[in-house]
Amino acid sequence: MSQIIRFPGMVDMHVHMREPGLTQKEDWLTGTSAAIAGGVVAIVDMPNTIPPTFTSEAIDEKEGIAREKALCDYGFYFGSDGSNLGEFEKVYDRVCGLKLYLDETTGSLRIDDEKKMDAIFRAWPRGKPILVHAERERLKRAILLAEKNYQKLHCCHVARKVDMELIANAKQKGLPITCEVAPHHLFLTNKDRTRLGSLAMMKPELGTEADQQALWDHIKKGTVDCIATDHAPHTLQEKEASTPPMGVPGLETAMPLLFTAIEDGKLTHDELTQLTNINPCRILGIRPANQTYVEVETGIQYQLDERTLKTKCGWSPFSDATLKARIVRTIIRGTEVFRDGTIVTTQRYGKNII
Ligand code: NCD
Ligand code: ZN
Ligand code: ZN
Ligand code: ZN
Repeated sequence: MSQIIRFPGMVDMHVHMREPGLTQKEDWLTGTSAAIAGGVVAIVDMPNTIPPTFTSEAIDEKEGIAREKALCDYGFYFGSDGSNLGEFEKVYDRVCGLKLYLDETTGSLRIDDEKKMDAIFRAWPRGKPILVHAERERLKRAILLAEKNYQKLHCCHVARKVDMELIANAKQKGLPITCEVAPHHLFLTNKDRTRLGSLAMMKPELGTEADQQALWDHIKKGTVDCIATDHAPHTLQEKEASTPPMGVPGLETAMPLLFTAIEDGKLTHDELTQLTNINPCRILGIRPANQTYVEVETGIQYQLDERTLKTKCGWSPFSDATLKARIVRTIIRGTEVFRDGTIVTTQRYGKNII
């Protein structure tokens, strides 16, 4: 039997809005439309845009765009390649943290030089987290550097059992480390690559069933702090090219998939509240906005229709999934912004979360 339940709304701390510079993939209007259609009420944008978010002027530009276009609340991460340490103090109050790419990723922001990594961990003001894209040896390195420099560390899109265990150990030592997992790693494995081809290619790559199981186990054990989409849209044309870019969209499917997991007995309602709202707010050091919530219809069954997606890329790796929940309404600070498949506001309701 179908039922409507109220939920605080997802605070998604890992999103690629693609504007400026990559607006063939997404822009702040289409990206935040996808957010509210997916029950996401706040997003934090990653620095791998063109130009990258390496200067206070780049933050000015993104703030201007977001103020004009954002339909949900938003924040920004600063980025670094080691050449902009002098900007850290200037931007610190305006961003949610510092994002570092220490492993292979989409774009050219990867840092390989250990000396640079060291200098960055020393220079970032203490308090707000350093977020890392890092696996295995690079993740170990990041944990060491964070410990040595008294930095809070947040590990993005953890996808492997070994990496989850590194983080569990560091937590056991009492280090201030948090981590996120992405829905594609929870709901897909490397077996889906045959079916989906490049539409199932992202960094970190899809894991084995044992990796996937470890992510669910560590949700239950409390190692996983939050679920973040790593919404990383690319056009179908780009994905069908001979060297397709890594990344998949996720804003519109995360909550329906996670509520489906509740229906399937894999997750509890209270765990989902912790993972998608309470914990990301704690890590970001923000309070959830007042009168901000979503209504979710459960006890239904349907297949995703890609034609209804608001993301500019227009596809999803979950087009074959059977979903057992959908977002009916999204309310931000008392104003209904999304209802029954339609964006119902013409005003830009988004505010900066810090
Ligand atoms: C992301 C992107 O496309 O910007 N791609 C991905 O595969 N996850 C970059 C990233 O999060 O590393
Ligand atoms: Zn990444
Ligand atoms: Zn990402
Ligand atoms: Zn509950």
